[in-house]
Amino acid sequence: MNSPEERHDKLIRATDLDALSCRNSINEKNYLQPKDEFINDLINSYQTYLQYSQGYSSLSSSRTLKAQFLSKKLPIINRGTYMRTKIITDFIQKYIDYFGGVCQILSLGSGSDTRAFHLLSTNPMTKYHEIDFPESTRIKKLGILNNPRLMKLLSIDPLDIPSVKSKESFNDLDPNLHTNRYHLHGLDLRGLNSITQIKGLDTNLPTLIISECVLCYLSPEEYRSTIEICTNFGNENLTSFLIYEPMSLKDSFGSTMNQNLMGRGLNLQTFDEYPDLESRLRFFKDMCKLSNIRMTDISNVAGYNKNSPAWIDDIELRRINSLEMIDEIEEIKLLLEHYCLVYGEFRNSPNAPTFSGVDDFNWLLKHDH
Ligand SMILES: C[S@@+](CC[C@H](N)C(=O)[O-])C[C@H]1O[C@@H](n2cnc3c(N)ncnc32)[C@H](O)[C@@H]1O
Repeated sequence: MNSPEERHDKLIRATDLDALSCRNSINEKNYLQPKDEFINDLINSYQTYLQYSQGYSSLSSSRTLKAQFLSKKLPIINRGTYMRTKIITDFIQKYIDYFGGVCQILSLGSGSDTRAFHLLSTNPMTKYHEIDFPESTRIKKLGILNNPRLMKLLSIDPLDIPSVKSKESFNDLDPNLHTNRYHLHGLDLRGLNSITQIKGLDTNLPTLIISECVLCYLSPEEYRSTIEICTNFGNENLTSFLIYEPMSLKDSFGSTMNQNLMGRGLNLQTFDEYPDLESRLRFFKDMCKLSNIRMTDISNVAGYNKNSPAWIDDIELRRINSLEMIDEIEEIKLLLEHYCLVYGEFRNSPNAPTFSGVDDFNWLLKHDH
């Protein structure tokens, strides 16, 4: 029998299946160009190994995966997933280019995100770290180790493929994977006490830390403390954060979103406690001590704000508009208004660089100090 905490963590881990199935849907519908060639490897890994992870049986894992991957996603969900995926990837690439490739990305709660593989293959100087619960990183690690293309890309010795055919052998598998430029860490963020727990993190590099729908699952205090620990590099460099997550706006749409989340046992405390961009600005500035803060909602990014240019060019917008008709413009605008993208940085010394490329993007709110 699992404890209430274990059951709760299982629900949180399962949110990765939502994210993966949404990305799979936009991949199948040709939103992503070029196509994501690694998504299927991660889906296959879930199909083989979810049954061995904590809280699942062969039957329950197969039911869970069927429910996720056989249900069709609505066009507005596909559009939102595409926007989020595209703008975060473009932002990361901009950051990498700004530092001539010599920097590192740390993705908190990376789940089955495949971005690391694409970015590592095109940015040969960059390092990439991913953190998630050990149960989740084992599935990702097995997805990598069962794929010769990924093994080659990450320079992994093909001799080291473990055999996992039971809960016991799954639990025995080391949840971490360390290569020259890619590191997968099986860690609960709530147990992070020091940056030294993140093996291989180069404290001399500018670092972009991403939270794509992740820190919102922590309490505000755990959220703040994770940011504080990640800024304690003790070097003279720049630590930047890029955070994407939902916010309630304290309206009826937000309240329905909250009820849906609660119905699934997910209590996102910051969702309602910091309901809009202004209150989040105070949270990041006063509680998390970040500076050079930039904020927007995704409706603005997607071009639904009059007089404010989209982050995505017209040709690309026309291409994705032609993939699936969306009549309910007000509905998608409302949905995207409930998601924010936040950039903030922490400089350990006045000599640390800053990322001025951030202002090549069109933000709704800026705070410079
Ligand atoms: C909604 S999914 C997002 C996955 C990925 N960032 C993406 O956008 O595709 C949230 C992820 O955060 C991870 N996560 C949440 N809380 C965590 C914690 N305390 N420690 C490690 N990972 C956590 C979950 O396991 C899950 O993979």
